[in-house]
Amino acid sequence: MIEFQNVKKSFPDGTEAIKGINVTIPKGQLVALIGPSGCGKTTTMKMINKLLLPTSGNILIDGKDISHINEVELRRNIGYVIQRIGLFPHMTIEDNIALIPKLKGWSPEKYQKKVDELMNLVGLDPKVFRKRYPLELSGGQQQRVGVIRALAAEPPIILMDEPFSALDPISREQLQDELKNLQRSIQKTIVFVTHDIDEALKIADKIVIMKEGLVQQMATPLDLVQNPENEFVRSFIGEHRLQENVEDYKVSDILIATDEYHTNRTFSNVVSHDSSVEEVSYFMLNNQLSEVGVEKSGEIIGLLTKDDLLRAFLSKKKGETA
Ligand SMILES: Nc1ncnc2c1ncn2[C@@H]1O[C@H](COP(=O)(O)OP(=O)(O)OP(=O)(O)O)[C@@H](O)[C@H]1O
Ligand SMILES: [Mg+2]
Repeated sequence: MIEFQNVKKSFPDGTEAIKGINVTIPKGQLVALIGPSGCGKTTTMKMINKLLLPTSGNILIDGKDISHINEVELRRNIGYVIQRIGLFPHMTIEDNIALIPKLKGWSPEKYQKKVDELMNLVGLDPKVFRKRYPLELSGGQQQRVGVIRALAAEPPIILMDEPFSALDPISREQLQDELKNLQRSIQKTIVFVTHDIDEALKIADKIVIMKEGLVQQMATPLDLVQNPENEFVRSFIGEHRLQENVEDYKVSDILIATDEYHTNRTFSNVVSHDSSVEEVSYFMLNNQLSEVGVEKSGEIIGLLTKDDLLRAFLSKKKGETA
């Protein structure tokens, strides 16, 4: 759990970037920070791993004030994807990804296996890319490496500052799905900065909407859309997101990409991938189920949760749901 208590941050030139925020980020949740450029998202993020120090107020991780924690130690346990990639240009892709695992004393066997696993996860063939240098990759490929580098040492907290901004829409959707799946299965606390409200609604457990150094509202995607606290939040979310009907969607339209973790599970309740969302919503409601397995041709292809259904009802249009 990460807690901001009355945190303010001013820079030496007098800019008040953060004007007093109180935010609690629960353990194991994915929390999105969103707001216009310059509202203080990156500043908020950098205070969590002490790249910036608050001018006043406290930040606690699992109840401990981080001002008493050594910053090197702190950063080893916090993965960080910075806004502009930040790979080390003179290190190969493999060395970039394995940096923290090596510092933590992992054996070559263990970190090499991890590098392979993560590169495959984001569609970079290790045989082709592991010995290359960052400049020998496209911008989007570098961004993928930036993302998996933050996951490599399996830190309990991961900070991601607009990690998918340079990706094409298809890769972006894929990585959003992967991240959501990953976070569900490994229960990491993830703080995720984005400009994109659809991205936030899709992947976040909670969304923090910021404006000019202040928090406007912190809520679940559903709550945010149902009870926007002010005009700014309303306009940020967009009226049209309240008015879509998704009853006719099929389960397969809103299913988050499958992964081994879920396909290997056994479910006591299973629905077909081509059932309608309406049908499944009633089924889950009537039987008080919080999740069901999804089946296609007799095989489990994924997991559908109550949250997925809520998100489906929130999101803008078919194909952008989760
Ligand atoms: N080192 C600095 N010195 C002075 N002002 C700064 C410094 N770093 C950031 N700021 C200012 O603090 C405010 C918040 O910046 P921050 O980078 O947190 O915004 P952001 O929400 O991440 O924006 P973006 O979406 O564009 O990345 C901005 O007004 C910015 O100009
Ligand atoms: Mg920023």
